[in-house]
Amino acid sequence: MSGFPKDFIWGTATSAYQIEGAWNKDGKGPSIWDDFVRRPQTIKNGDRGDIACDHYHRYREDIQLLKNLGVKAYRFSIAWPRVIPEGTGKVNQKGIDFYRNVLDELNNAGITPFVTLYHWDLPQNLQDKGGWVNRDVVGWFGEYVDKISRTLGSEVQNYIVINEPSVIAYVGHYQGVHAPGYKDKTSYLACTHHLNLCHGDSVEIIKNNIPKANVGSTFTHFPIRPASSKAEDVLAAQIMEAAWSRVYLDPVCLGTYPELLVHDFEDLIKEGDRQRINKPGDFIGINHYSPDYARADNRDAFGAVLDYAHDSHTERTSDEHTDLGWVIEPEALYEALMDIKDRYHSPLIYITEGGCAYNDGPSEDGRIHDERRIRYYERYLTEVKRARDDGAKVKGYFAWSFLDNFEWGEGYSARFGLVYIDFKDQLKRIPKDSYFWYKDYIST
Ligand code: FCB
Repeated sequence: MSGFPKDFIWGTATSAYQIEGAWNKDGKGPSIWDDFVRRPQTIKNGDRGDIACDHYHRYREDIQLLKNLGVKAYRFSIAWPRVIPEGTGKVNQKGIDFYRNVLDELNNAGITPFVTLYHWDLPQNLQDKGGWVNRDVVGWFGEYVDKISRTLGSEVQNYIVINEPSVIAYVGHYQGVHAPGYKDKTSYLACTHHLNLCHGDSVEIIKNNIPKANVGSTFTHFPIRPASSKAEDVLAAQIMEAAWSRVYLDPVCLGTYPELLVHDFEDLIKEGDRQRINKPGDFIGINHYSPDYARADNRDAFGAVLDYAHDSHTERTSDEHTDLGWVIEPEALYEALMDIKDRYHSPLIYITEGGCAYNDGPSEDGRIHDERRIRYYERYLTEVKRARDDGAKVKGYFAWSFLDNFEWGEGYSARFGLVYIDFKDQLKRIPKDSYFWYKDYIST
């Protein structure tokens, strides 16, 4: 097996709401997550991202940690309501200044920024107008992307337009577990189609503003396995694969919706939409953590559910799991990468997230011996090498995450970071053993 080439992009990733804090500082408007975390029983332990890692005030120290880690690239997201508080119209200069400062600091550290434009924090003002379910969102999003790419164009070349459309639509608009907490299939369908349109339009907008830009979106991609060998579960897995992955990747890469669900989208697809969406851009971003399982469920609007492997009836393909219960099966990453290569004409791929929740804290020596995380990365990266050897054009890997952070519905109870954050003691940062391991791995 060959190794990774010299120009392979090693990085780490974060997102705005999960680390920044300063939720209402310096003119930032509220987002749907600021609203969602304030509703009862949405987040474990009632946690909120109001302060999170306070990266908003500590970015200098954090970028120093990135520099010492030796990464070539850093993926972070821009909070739309920080830069355009109402979603459209007036730009908040202080918000722009913050990201400019981050970019300057990265530049001084010799780290290339990969900017995610949407990592789930829609301005609440736009939610009040229907948010992702209202087709007007395509215009609102276009305005935002145009303004940002004009403003930061000379400093940022790499753009990830949307992070995980499936989670936004399925988890946020169908399961109701993420903001905005909707629970119906109609919302999921509209949200999905509008996300796809936003992706396609943004590729055009960014390319117009920055001809040399490197643009794509990021999709969660993992094998969805039937929870048992029963025929109905096998069909359930096909449905869930369509509803979770194919409804995004197929329109973007092939210009079609998957057959199993296309009739559901008929009323939403207007003339010209398919061509508008069919813009893969320069790369496909993949976030991958673990395989998932699907089973038939008559009470469900899809007739099938993803059961996140927590269901005891599931015949899991591996018994190993992280502290969040996510199954560890490195071969599933190989499978996901080869699927992208085979089905979508061998695009360039960045693995924009990969990692594991292990909640190890400081030992008596003050250090965090997160051996299990090291082992996870070693095994998953071996599969990346194997996929590369077999022709998948994987060009980069971003470890999720740089810092322990606010893990959405799990609050602060799930730690994904290479750097430990002491949420009880002044948000002290302590690089874990995996940080030093990663540093070593990527330098050799
Ligand atoms: C992904 C999200 C990211 C993080 C990881 C664990 O779905 O993109 O923000 O929460 O999962």
